[in-house]
Amino acid sequence: MTPTDHRCDALGIRDIETVVAAVRRARELPDTHRFNFVTLHDTGKAPGAPRRALASIVDRADGTVSEAVVNLPDGEVISFVDIPGAVPPLLYEEAFLASITTREDDRWRAAMRRRGITDFDSIQLDPWPPGWFGEPEDDRRLARVLSYRRDFPEDNGYAHPIEGVVVWIDLEKNEVARFEDHGVVPVPPDPANYRTVDVEPRTDRAPLEITQPDGPGFTVDGNHLSWQRWDLRITLHAITGLTLHDVGYHDPAVRRRRSIAHQLGLSEMVVPYGDVAAAHNWKNAFDCGEWGLGRMTNSLTLGCDCLGVIHYLDAVLVGEQGEPRVIENAICIHEEDFGILWKHLDMHSGTVEVRRRRRLVVSAIHTVGNYEYGFYWYFYEDGTIAHEVKLTGIVQVKARPTHAHDPYSNPIGEGLAAPHHQHLFCYRLDLDVDGPDNIVEEIEVATVPAGPDNPRSNGFLAEVTRFGSEHDAMRLIDSSTARRWRVSNPSVRNAVGQPVAYELHPPSTPVLHALDSSSIAARAAFATRNLWVTPYDRTEHRAAGDYPSQHPGGDGLARWTAGNRSLGDGDGGGDVVLWHTFGVTHLVRPEDWPVMPVEVKGFSLVPFGFFDRNPALDVAPQPGHC
Ligand code: CO
Repeated sequence: MTPTDHRCDALGIRDIETVVAAVRRARELPDTHRFNFVTLHDTGKAPGAPRRALASIVDRADGTVSEAVVNLPDGEVISFVDIPGAVPPLLYEEAFLASITTREDDRWRAAMRRRGITDFDSIQLDPWPPGWFGEPEDDRRLARVLSYRRDFPEDNGYAHPIEGVVVWIDLEKNEVARFEDHGVVPVPPDPANYRTVDVEPRTDRAPLEITQPDGPGFTVDGNHLSWQRWDLRITLHAITGLTLHDVGYHDPAVRRRRSIAHQLGLSEMVVPYGDVAAAHNWKNAFDCGEWGLGRMTNSLTLGCDCLGVIHYLDAVLVGEQGEPRVIENAICIHEEDFGILWKHLDMHSGTVEVRRRRRLVVSAIHTVGNYEYGFYWYFYEDGTIAHEVKLTGIVQVKARPTHAHDPYSNPIGEGLAAPHHQHLFCYRLDLDVDGPDNIVEEIEVATVPAGPDNPRSNGFLAEVTRFGSEHDAMRLIDSSTARRWRVSNPSVRNAVGQPVAYELHPPSTPVLHALDSSSIAARAAFATRNLWVTPYDRTEHRAAGDYPSQHPGGDGLARWTAGNRSLGDGDGGGDVVLWHTFGVTHLVRPEDWPVMPVEVKGFSLVPFGFFDRNPALDVAPQPGHC
């Protein structure tokens, strides 16, 4: 099989053209139809599974969403169905129109005048997904628009939030559905700009150059990446972003390629805010499902976003009018030195062996309104796969008198504060450890009661609990017991007779802080647990459902796991998918302003008896050094 006929070969310009033409041929579509997204369609794991695309289309006039599955490369339409009740992600076109409608509204203009603002054109207007609270307007397709003052075109508007004004726009009628003014609070006065024209760069950095005179150690063929013993495929999903497929390791000890994962990637993320004020208590952004994270992928710049010898992959998405949309340099691939890999000084003979740690990095960065999110996958020579989210950009803000009592936000400037919030990411980790038939266990350290079996009270052991069904596997992180989760293949044994396995080592991280009775707990049920495990189903990809916009909740993981499906019993196990939610609770610091330094959070997939001994023992020493 060549890279050009693989089921997860990335979509190209011709593919998008084929899909759009097929959709328009199959149905007479009104002029008001728009494309939400075109992505690769999951056609399952069977050998020779076809390569297909999924197109999501909306009729802007009435919000009707339909989905077509199109075979590639021939353009045969396999299915074309309406999706009742689905609300699509906000279209850029609609966001633009919502700002025009807001700017022309008399009530909004009067509210600006009450705050001493008369230059309406200079106001930055940010549309927000409205959430769902069962209010009368919620059966209309909405955005809520917030206002920020810019004192010049490049000014950081988030330094000057216009507090209390929330304009609900009906996206289909282009009209104001509700206008709220919760009262005048002075607009924070101080500028907070961060560009080199605003901040004189310091001069204390010595040059640091990363060179690989013989080129990088990886090869890329289409979207297929090989590095040392690793190989995988890479795509950029229009909604969920960076996705890895068919991750395998060529193990010289057993002289074959061993599968580790069928697919790894973000499934959904949500940013719930903890501020109870009326102007803020509805803020919950699903940056995948409501915004289309993949559509907001940056074009990366060599030497700035990525340092060293870089290979970039472009991504091809669909524009709303059906045109191919190329994001150049969307995915960055490079190698990094990462300290030491292993070392030992033998104190008896004086011999020293030390190896440098090298990692392969696959990354992409997205801008969602005020925030940036970088997603980084790492592959190591010791068999570890790790993932990090890097959060940066500008925090959400509110205006409040500097010394006012407000336990739901932290002050960051004169009359300016940032509400408490979380960023919670749910990853779909379809591990296939040496094949699809795996079992999942929880490992926890238990102390042993003092007594004859533990005479010095020092004993602890690892307790292993197998998950029999989905409800067993709805779990929280517990750092106090070193809790982790193991995916093993009982039919493949290592040198000491154990099933070969990989473990998910989660970070220390909370779940959703909002009450179970909140709207967001129902809509983002995935965020109420750190772990879920489901039997593999190729239709189950998006943890909050395929269309979370204005959804009252209960879709996605909550719905799939309601029947408490079996995760396999007996010796054989089954094909399972792990869903891992982690994130940060952001109690904003003054140092996060006006652009926050990168905050990092992530997890590791660590081999546990997958290899018989340290697989990086044979890594070569640094030439000429050690
Ligand atoms: Co934050």
